[in-house]
Amino acid sequence: MSPTPKQFNATGPCVPEDHYHLPPLTRLPKILSLVKDGQSFVIHAPHQSGKTTIIQAARRQINAEGEYYALICYFYSLPMVTDLDEAMSHMIGLLYGALSDYDFFGLNPANIDRFLKENSQDPNFKAAPIKNFLNFLAASLDKDLVIFFVEPACLTIPIFISFLSQLSSGFWARARSNYPFPRSIGLVDMRDIINCQFDIRPQDRTWGQENPFDFLTAALRPANFTLEEVRSLYAQHTAGAGQIFLDEAVEKAYHWTDGQPWLVNALAYEAVNEILGRDYGPPITAKIINEAVNNLLNRRDVHLDFCRFLLGKPKAQTIIRPMLDLKPSPNPPSEGPNNQSLSHKFKRAYHFCLDMGLIKGDIRSYQPANHLYARLIS
Ligand SMILES: Nc1ncnc2c1ncn2[C@@H]1O[C@H](COP(=O)(O)OP(=O)(O)OP(=O)(O)O)[C@@H](O)[C@H]1O
Ligand SMILES: [Mg+2]
Repeated sequence: MSPTPKQFNATGPCVPEDHYHLPPLTRLPKILSLVKDGQSFVIHAPHQSGKTTIIQAARRQINAEGEYYALICYFYSLPMVTDLDEAMSHMIGLLYGALSDYDFFGLNPANIDRFLKENSQDPNFKAAPIKNFLNFLAASLDKDLVIFFVEPACLTIPIFISFLSQLSSGFWARARSNYPFPRSIGLVDMRDIINCQFDIRPQDRTWGQENPFDFLTAALRPANFTLEEVRSLYAQHTAGAGQIFLDEAVEKAYHWTDGQPWLVNALAYEAVNEILGRDYGPPITAKIINEAVNNLLNRRDVHLDFCRFLLGKPKAQTIIRPMLDLKPSPNPPSEGPNNQSLSHKFKRAYHFCLDMGLIKGDIRSYQPANHLYARLIS
């Protein structure tokens, strides 16, 4: 038993030294082979499913292996701007900041500053600033670069399309003519970005020769934890603090959460830290897990608040209302999973709810993603 047990993590990415956790990369082992193969890809999963934990582990491993440099650029701190030039210069600022976290991978920052100063007003540079900056970095570094961009879908559509087009153009130029450019780019978001193209431009309208999504060859989504994974996560606490989770408690937690990573941790955290006040003597029972569920539902934690917010969106309502209308309703929906043909709008709404983790299952037989969300919905 370790002197200071780790904690169940209910806030932010898992820190291996501090938190009980399952090996992040075993959830998406394909990342590393895609990077080796020089592919670009999407990683998508609902809110608080472990995306950041996974890419942080990938970045650590890639940098530790030493063949390539890997960095993460978080877009969620981008200010909400609609001006393209302004947005691009903020993105370059974020890339610069991300590089500085790694001491610029050995590059002299004065050379980067000079490059930006000399070029930032040049019309050729300004036509594709992200592409040109990444080209400069790739040409200057002594190893190939791998970049994870987090939450690019937060950009407005014209900025998002410009960003993607620049990545795509640089990526294909690298493939065709050894143009210096990052070898692999991962776009990390809640939405499946490849699928989002049909929200932006319907399926029957083509992008012409230059589809900016084409360079993304795979969309990876980590699965929820299995019952055995939940058991093994909870067993880490038993090993660390001596406190037992009865089988009935593990099964009850799985029943409520369907293995959703944050929920699995939050129930355990609530049981161990709040309900039992870190008294590691008593075993965790199914009754305690049920009490933890009620506490979570009665509190305004970010996770469930965000689900409530999503459920209120028209797209979610399109999908949720037919589910509720299994019960008698004064306003039967005009469209539902039992209709003969499903409209584009209904399909898009279904994919939105699936990406957001609100539902699971086939378009004609979907249900709430887990029993805890079902309590929010009903
Ligand atoms: N490998 C893991 N083992 C156990 N729990 C995990 C693991 N990865 C994530 N979690 C749980 O999921 C939560 C969210 O993790 P993380 O911040 O990595 O997810 P995210 O999908 O990036 O979230 P967000 O949508 O907020 O960006 C953690 O606080 C933890 O409860
Ligand atoms: Mg994250």
